[in-house]
Amino acid sequence: MVSFARGFCRLKFTKAPWSFEVHCSVGSELFVRHKQISAFTSVVRCHGEYSKLLSCYSLLTHGQRRHNSEIPEVDRVKKDPRYDRTLRDARFSKLSNQDLVEFKKIVGDSSVLTEAFELEAANRDWLGKYVGTSQALLRPRTTQQVSEILSYCNTRRLAVVPQGGNTGLVGGSVPVFDEVILSLGAMDNIISFDEGNGILVCEAGCILEKLDSFLAEKGYMMPLDFGAKGSCQIGGNISTNAGGIHLLRYGSLRANILGLEIVLANGQVIDSLRSLRKDNTGYDMKQIFIGAEGTLGVVTKVSILTPARLSSRNVVFLGCKYFTDCQRALKEARSNLGEILSAFEFLDRKALDMVLSHSDGLRDPLPDSKHSFYLLVETTGSCFNHDREKLDNFLEICMDKGVVADGVVAQDNQQFRSFWQLREGITEALSKAGAVYKYDLSIPVPYMYNIVENLQHRLGDLAVVMGYGHLGDGNLHLNISAPRYDSKIFSLIEPFVYEWTASHKGSVSAEHGLGFMKADAIYYSKSPEMVQWMTRFKQMFDCNGILNPYKVLPGSSFKEGSRYRNVSNSS
Ligand code: FAD
Ligand code: MLT
Ligand code: ZN
Repeated sequence: MVSFARGFCRLKFTKAPWSFEVHCSVGSELFVRHKQISAFTSVVRCHGEYSKLLSCYSLLTHGQRRHNSEIPEVDRVKKDPRYDRTLRDARFSKLSNQDLVEFKKIVGDSSVLTEAFELEAANRDWLGKYVGTSQALLRPRTTQQVSEILSYCNTRRLAVVPQGGNTGLVGGSVPVFDEVILSLGAMDNIISFDEGNGILVCEAGCILEKLDSFLAEKGYMMPLDFGAKGSCQIGGNISTNAGGIHLLRYGSLRANILGLEIVLANGQVIDSLRSLRKDNTGYDMKQIFIGAEGTLGVVTKVSILTPARLSSRNVVFLGCKYFTDCQRALKEARSNLGEILSAFEFLDRKALDMVLSHSDGLRDPLPDSKHSFYLLVETTGSCFNHDREKLDNFLEICMDKGVVADGVVAQDNQQFRSFWQLREGITEALSKAGAVYKYDLSIPVPYMYNIVENLQHRLGDLAVVMGYGHLGDGNLHLNISAPRYDSKIFSLIEPFVYEWTASHKGSVSAEHGLGFMKADAIYYSKSPEMVQWMTRFKQMFDCNGILNPYKVLPGSSFKEGSRYRNVSNSS
């Protein structure tokens, strides 16, 4: 019997019908009590959705096998109209039995997964909004194997979707149609760590949180951190140029990645796995692969600069009346906390209510009064007394100036964590609450919250609009929560959100990427000339377009038989 207390769980069967792995999210509790089954169980790591656990329950208890026809059909048009506009590229081959034989020669039988129940979780994105119909998932263990797989797929014109932890929020990590899934999860070795300089070299499939735990023992930390750290992989982070809560302090991945090993679509391995801080020998090729979302090459190894793990960390939870007060508080934090400021996050009251109503054990840190906005301000330094003095001074100034209405400093580790859970738990809470339309925008801070209010006005009672995000980076997470996906709601949101963002000189993707969801929206943030040059890059690195098709670049490139025609015509 399988039971669970809370959290997100996924069961992944490796050898049907009885052998399987259990994947569950950090903080979830999952128990496998059936004797026969537990003998075969290995608890591996966390990921996936609660609903998947339920769907696998009967398999566990009855040992039945699922067949392809039993994969639940998703009402794609309802969930994302982009499916309706996207045709399968007819130039891609369909997977054959011979292909599977060849894949098995490269990676071995057990690393080629083809059963529907084995593929179910990998075919579906974290939000359950994008679902593909891939028939094969490959788990290479070496760069050489990745190279041979891609070389084979390129020759056969088989489309491939690289997949890391599958925590992406824009439908980039799952197949749109029947693309082969190339999972990097088995490439999770740490290769070296330079303790004097904080330079870590590892394989792309390493889980972010595991890398951080490894570094903790050496007195270092990963320069990026966010809610999905227990499942996302460093290769996926690099491919999305992930941001998170510490970008304000440590900068983006672009600044911290020292080298990469990449496998191109034709199987060629590009080795730029250097560990140098400075290297001005020509073009910095690795930058083009950072944030390329698996469309230009597959990241297989990484060299990354990691900061020292400092011993003194504080977090305060503040309540503000107006969004302008949040901005004033940010200015005060910059000038009064200076070098110890490590995070400056905000959430509005609706986001706080959302997380409080869907997370057990969390409570409002400021229960005596409700505020329209909340701030989470973190400091990280090397001297507790010094940091605390600065923090107290900052709080005093904010209170004196009336910038902050109320606030509380975390008194211990447990409170520190629970404050952060209030911020990091919003994403999961929203996904439990029903349908969620997510937008990840960069907007000049003075106008940032206007779009939340405007959109709520447009939607009226149809949905609840909320805002949270990385205020210190000018990054708003605009989320619309509704009981179910609905075309009327969608038509009130898009293109309004994109048009509004473009008219305020913002970006339609601050940190999540474009994936499948926003490929057509690229023109709201990039000029036609820039998109044309991007398409040329794509052609240059992946001339058959097999790597993560239908993602990042706009849909005109994907109409049957006319891939990239626009660009070739104009060149
Ligand atoms: P996947 O989701 O598997 O893939 C993402 C993209 O990268 C896909 O296009 C995929 O094809 C490609 N890819 C993956 N691995 C490789 C590889 N080795 N080589 C080439 N391409 C590859 N993102 C943020 O930026 N900031 C946040 O604060 C943040 N918070 C989140 C919180 C939650 C709860 C969740 C669920 C997600 C959050 N995300 C956030 C989004 C997501 O976690 C990040 O985009 C993350 O970097 C994706 O990593 P992944 O390993 O899961 O990649
Ligand atoms: C966050 O900052 O919480 C993430 O980017 C996820 C989200 O946008 O919900
Ligand atoms: Zn974010």
